Amino acid sequence: KNMTDANAERTFIAVKPDGVQRGLVGEIIKRFEQRGYKLVAGKLMVAPKALLENHYKDLADKPFYSGLVTYMASGPVFAMVWEGKEVVKMGRKMLGATNPRESAPGTIRGDYCIDVGRNICHGSDAVETAQREIALWFKDDELCDYEFADKKWVY
Ligand code: TYD
Repeated sequence: KNMTDANAERTFIAVKPDGVQRGLVGEIIKRFEQRGYKLVAGKLMVAPKALLENHYKDLADKPFYSGLVTYMASGPVFAMVWEGKEVVKMGRKMLGATNPRESAPGTIRGDYCIDVGRNICHGSDAVETAQREIALWFKDDELCDYEFADKKWVY
């Protein structure tokens, strides 16, 4: 895949255990689909603790880290890869602020949750982070390389 293609940027988005429990997987997929982004991979899984510790390794010294890992391991998460123009930045915008009470209404967190410890979704914070997280959560053969039949309606 030609990663210099600006429309081929990818991000890692996950519906956290609370989002799965609350039946929000479809709603979150729907928002990315309707925006015009392309679903490249998706799977429901109970994440092993080691995977979560690696995923959140930069937060290891934070007071909320162990609770965060326990929460993330408490049930299945729906892990996804989405592709499209500036999808990392736009994905973060669509999710809303980390603290849902600072998330604007209209964003996923701003519409569906209240507490930072139950903020229902994850999105990579930079292109390099996205590459690391995609490689951590997915095998290469789980990423589907395909084109929309007619991209001219989105780009
Ligand atoms: P962080 O990487 O700072 O935010 P984001 O998920 O928006 O990239 O934090 C990771 C997760 O840790 C965050 O989604 C929710 C949780 N968290 C807390 O539980 N308490 C906190 O004070 C913070 C900052 C985050």
